[in-house]
Amino acid sequence: MSSKKNRGEWGSSMGFILAAAGSAIGLGNIWKFPYLMGRNGGVWFLLAYLVFIVIMGMPVMLGEMALGRAANKNPVGAFAAQNRWATPIGAMGVLAAFIILSYYSVIGGWVMRYLVDYTFQGVAPDFGEFTASAGSPILWHGVFLLWAVVICLGGVSAGIERASRLMMPTLFLLLLLIVIRAVTLPGAGEGLRFMFDPRASQFSLKSISAALGQVFFSLSLGMGIMITYGSYLGRNARLVRKAVIVPSLDTFCALLAGLAILPTVFAFGKDPTAGPSLVFVTLPDVFSAMPAGGRLIAILFFIVLAFAAVTSAVSLLECVISYTIDELHWSRLLSLVLVGGTVFLLGIPSALSSGLIAEWKPIMFGGRNFLDAACFLTDNILMPIGGLLMCIFVGWVQGPSKMGAEIANHGAWPFRQYPAWAFIMRYIAPVLLIVVMLVQFGVFE
Ligand code: PHE
Repeated sequence: MSSKKNRGEWGSSMGFILAAAGSAIGLGNIWKFPYLMGRNGGVWFLLAYLVFIVIMGMPVMLGEMALGRAANKNPVGAFAAQNRWATPIGAMGVLAAFIILSYYSVIGGWVMRYLVDYTFQGVAPDFGEFTASAGSPILWHGVFLLWAVVICLGGVSAGIERASRLMMPTLFLLLLLIVIRAVTLPGAGEGLRFMFDPRASQFSLKSISAALGQVFFSLSLGMGIMITYGSYLGRNARLVRKAVIVPSLDTFCALLAGLAILPTVFAFGKDPTAGPSLVFVTLPDVFSAMPAGGRLIAILFFIVLAFAAVTSAVSLLECVISYTIDELHWSRLLSLVLVGGTVFLLGIPSALSSGLIAEWKPIMFGGRNFLDAACFLTDNILMPIGGLLMCIFVGWVQGPSKMGAEIANHGAWPFRQYPAWAFIMRYIAPVLLIVVMLVQFGVFE
């Protein structure tokens, strides 16, 4: 068994919180949340989202942290330590993290390219042309991934924690600056109204399911990331507190992103529901239409996006290498070289998905291109099933009192919310996760 010293440990509570928030706050918050809210009835979506953060996000995150801290092991080892038969749940999580990282890094590469172009040339690349080319998306995917690898190479405390301590506060600050600029643009009121107006007609069962899916993705749940990060916590750590603070920071950041983007887009009369192209096509149009300061805002915005993306990518990478380090006894360096290399290769078809292989949409992918198929597999299948199995394991197979005791540090801290938490793990979370999957697969149409 590898000693705890070799695995690494967070330097402080704050370090853990910033790293976990770094994982949670990512592309999902900054481009996905604002347009989901815009599309799904504004404030209605926000309310559903907030309810799910509290009744699902926080409890499930708490369960994951407890599993990790109980064994001080990677997701596979953490489940195996509880029950040998549960090992595949952890394995599925590591696999999901591996696949997500491969395409997340491609999108991270797009962000890098935009940042570099804005910084040195003052304009954004042509999105269609850029993503249709072969070399450039692959190159930037590699650059982005290398950045994440270098951070992980530093280890848990000197690498991940240090990077998060630098990047997360910077991210908050820059985002705040952008929000101030956004809400003071003439015409911004429209955008605020669009965001906060209750539009019940746009709010459906699909919206509720989208809200829950977004809670899972945004909090990096269902694949063992929080198991991994929790495994580097010490015996004395207070888990409940952390499982409240991290989702709160994540939600705060999603709202800030909405406030930064929607008023801006509205002020310039553009469509805020464009989806993936919002950040890469609509916003650049807006930046270039700004009378002054557009380039500066663009640079700041893509720094925010790059920091958000890289700290999330780091958590995905750490989840996979914690497995190769603990279970296969590879060194951190070897793990990063081999895992990083394989993720790079697996990302290549995603990088080519709008270009060379755009038309390759096998039946097996449900008529999707490679990138969309990878997203679908992880978001709609692996993550919810991973979350579901985790809740069933903790709530039913083991019985909630086992992780409950871990959360209470075996009596050292009070865990007053235990009855509610146990009820959620046993009933609410499994039922809601099953409903979401059924809705995603169109069973209720
Ligand atoms: N939570 C990240 C985001 O909002 C994405 C992510 C998902 C990161 C799963 C790690 C694991 O973008």
